[in-house]
Parts: sequence; C-alpha cells; structure tokens
Amino acid sequence: MSLMPLEKRGITGSRLVLGCMGFAGDWDTGVIEKGELLEAERGLDTALESGITMFDHADIYKRGKAEEVFGKCLNNRAGLREKIIIQSKCGIRFADTENPGRYDFSKNHILGAVDGILGRLGTDYLDILLLHRPDPLMEPEEVAEAFSTLMESGKVRNFGVSNMNVAQMKLLQAYIGSPLVVNQMEMSLKKLDWLDQGVHVNQPAGLGTNFAEGLIEHCMLETIQLQAWAPLAKGIYSGKEDFMSAAEKETAELVARMAEEKETTKESIVLGWLMRHPANIQPVIGTTNPGRIQNCQDAPRQAKLMTREEWYKLYISSRSKRLP
Ligand SMILES: NC(=O)c1ccc[n+]([C@@H]2O[C@H](COP(=O)([O-])OP(=O)(O)OC[C@H]3O[C@@H](n4cnc5c(N)ncnc54)[C@H](OP(=O)(O)O)[C@@H]3O)[C@@H](O)[C@H]2O)c1
Repeated sequence: MSLMPLEKRGITGSRLVLGCMGFAGDWDTGVIEKGELLEAERGLDTALESGITMFDHADIYKRGKAEEVFGKCLNNRAGLREKIIIQSKCGIRFADTENPGRYDFSKNHILGAVDGILGRLGTDYLDILLLHRPDPLMEPEEVAEAFSTLMESGKVRNFGVSNMNVAQMKLLQAYIGSPLVVNQMEMSLKKLDWLDQGVHVNQPAGLGTNFAEGLIEHCMLETIQLQAWAPLAKGIYSGKEDFMSAAEKETAELVARMAEEKETTKESIVLGWLMRHPANIQPVIGTTNPGRIQNCQDAPRQAKLMTREEWYKLYISSRSKRLP
C-alpha cells in the first residue's frame, strides 16, 4: 500500500487519529471536573502507547471544553506538543439568544476562532485547521485572507475542510495560496454511500445515493487526505449490539468471526476494512474508552492483510444487497 496523502506532504500523522469530541463530559458550559481530566489523560496516554500521534478537535466540541481539557493534559506532559499533530476545526456557530445555529467563514470569525483554539489548547500553533461545514455565504477571497494571516503569523501550518464536495473544494482552492490537505467526511462500514456512489454509476439504484460525487477520486488525484469521522459506526459492529436491522446483526457476526479467525479485535476489522481502500483513508476514532482505543491499534495491519474477497464480503453484508 502506498503512503497516505499526509505522509506524501511531509505531515507525519499516525495512520489512526484520536477524535477528541468525546472528552470533557457534557455539552454544557460548566468547568472541567477532576474525573473528566483523568479520563482525558488516560485516553491520551493510551492513544500514545497505541502508536496514535494525531488528534482531532473542533472549537465547538463540548463548547470548547474538549480543547481545554486536552490543553491541560498537554501542559502536564513536557515536550509532547512537538511530537504530535493537532488539528482543529472552526466555522460552526451555536445558536444564541438572538441568532440561530449557523456557519461563519468570515475573516473575523476564523481569526477569532483560531485564537480561542490556541488559547484553550495552550499551544502556539495548529498543524492543520479545517473548515467544519460549508458556509453558503463563503467569500473565498475573505477565507484566503484569513488563511494567509494565519499562515504568516505561524498560528496555522496547513489547511483543510470537512463535509465539503468537490466543487466547494475547487472554489476555495482557486483562491488560497496553500494546498488543502484534508477533507473529513462521515464514512464507515455502516455509512456506505461513499462506495455506493461509485458502484451505482449508470444504475437506477444510484438515485437515492447522497455522497459528494467524485470526491474520493478528486482527493486521490490531488493528494488530499480523506479522513473518516464516525469510522467505528458508534460501535455497532464491535460490541454495542444496538441493531436496527438484520443486516447490521449479520455484519456484526461476520466481523466477530473474522476477528476470531485473524486473532485480532472487532474494532481492527471494522477500521481495517475502511483503511483497505486505495485512498488510504485515515479513521478518526471517537472512543474515549482506553480498552477500545487499544483495540483499534491492529487496524493498519489488518488493512494490509485483508483480501479483496474479505473486503467485499463485509461490504455486501452491510449493504445487504448484491452488487449490480
Ligand atoms: N467533521 C465532522 O463533522 C465530525 C462530526 C462528528 C465527529 N467528528 C470527529 O470524529 C470523531 C469520531 O466520531 P464519533 O465519535 O461520532 O464516531 P465513532 O468513532 O464511530 O464512535 C465513537 C462513539 O461510539 C461509542 N462506542 C464505540 N464502540 C462502542 C462499543 N463497543 N460499545 C458502546 N459504545 C461504543 C464510543 O463510546 P466510548 O467513548 O464509551 O467508547 C463513542 O461514543 C469525533 O471524536 C470527532 O473528532 C467529526
């Protein structure tokens, strides 16, 4: 398997990313509690011991508290900052007394959001900043100005996006001076539209598929790292057993059989399946549970070992329909 796009660009992120949305308790505005700090410390240390050196944040996660608790962990670990890759996101604004929940890619908002992120994380720079969800009012010139300011001040080293289609990425890329290096999308063994879009070309079955057309190929051509959010499908195939359909139950059983045969964990089969795709997708795992974080660490090896036949068995079991 070839290098992943981030490696080709000299950004030394691990094959798995730890998503930090789950840290810091509830989505309230309260202070960080001792138990929440301990949970984050255990999660971070387990990730590092499992070979994970890349961490995903967003300014909105737990209303800033997820970054704040991570910043406290960093502060307690001298010299760690330079050894890890931190990315965060901005551009979503919560509803307040006067305004609805909305998106905001204005220069002022982006610059202010990054200052807030850096303050909470207690760091001088972000390795990667992502725009979280497309803002219909995006003025690409304005975003370009914000990105130049952030790059020149050294506050952000690379830029990317999340939940964007090819046209939105191309529009932005036409104005900004540095390459977009990441697009983060929901992709998993449960959410299959990223594959169905391709296999349904010229098929009536494709009419109901809703994934950004051509995005996978665009990212492969342009050396853009595809990252998968919710890659564990919230644990449905690795122990949660909260099944919504017979296909989910059967797929969970298949995952369990494969894990047993290959002497690995269910999490590593689920993630290995995603990583087996030639786009070298980087899963952003959202578990805060140390045991489950450890269970993910064999995924890169399982991706290399997975045969075409095993990969298709999992895909077809989950989609619960034969291919056209
Ligand atoms: N760009 C975006 O728009 C976007 C959107 C959402 C998320 N994200 C990023 O993606 C990361 C991952 O997303 P995610 O957390 O939604 O998805 P995920 O990794 O698929 O699932 C993690 C969630 O599932 C639970 N889980 C996993 N295995 C389980 C099991 N066997 N039994 C019970 N519960 C289980 C975890 O709980 P435990 O913690 O208890 O294990 C956690 O709540 C986030 O942390 C965030 O960084 C990005």
